Amino acid sequence: MKPLIAGNWKMHGAPDWYDYPSRFNALLPENDRKALDILMCPPALFIESLVRKSSELNIHVGAQNCHAETSGAHTGEISTEMLKSVGARFVIVGHSERRADGEMDADILAKALAAIRGGITPIVCVGETLLERESGHANNVVTAQLVASLGGVDLTTGPEIVVAYEPVWAIGTGMTATPDDIVAMHARIRAYVGPKIRILYGGSVKPNNAKEILKAPNVNGALIGGASLDMDSFAAIAKAAL
Ligand code: PGA
Repeated sequence: MKPLIAGNWKMHGAPDWYDYPSRFNALLPENDRKALDILMCPPALFIESLVRKSSELNIHVGAQNCHAETSGAHTGEISTEMLKSVGARFVIVGHSERRADGEMDADILAKALAAIRGGITPIVCVGETLLERESGHANNVVTAQLVASLGGVDLTTGPEIVVAYEPVWAIGTGMTATPDDIVAMHARIRAYVGPKIRILYGGSVKPNNAKEILKAPNVNGALIGGASLDMDSFAAIAKAAL
């Protein structure tokens, strides 16, 4: 399975963001990374320009959210068809920062189905909070999220769907799950999604921990926040996947 190294820029875009693809390419030229899929997910406003900067470099561009419907009276929203029309290939759905803002599993399922319908690959995020982990409920929480946010999705299609396991307490904190916890949770997710779906790990993935995380069984790539905004770090993480 080709590892997917995905950067989630969140609501960031340093003035030099349009240089990121060429800077990344200089650090890890295309020929050296044929075995990887590289993805940058900028704020929606930048998607179209970033696609222009990155398509020749074989870097994919994705969105951080979408709406479940094709069009309609939904102020401020963007459909998967619109994202596809400007060149987005992936869309993150159910990120914990959006779940914290009230997004529910049913919304996430609708968005994942909309992405598939619109011809872009959803990256469906799951993960437990610290309280849920400390009270011994991590497995149940993640399983319930998988069932509710992927129910009805055809998991036999392989590359058209990606799942990201992101323990909420590891996001942006510098804390990561232990290798044993990652192996155990990814095995659980694998048992649910079957053999064809890529499962990413996310939560404070950095150059210094990437190799250990990425070599774990059933870890098919990483979803990277903070470190994806620094091309030296992002490229170092991608190298660790080779
Ligand atoms: P982080 O973010 O790498 O900054 O922890 C990960 C994410 O939110 O996807």
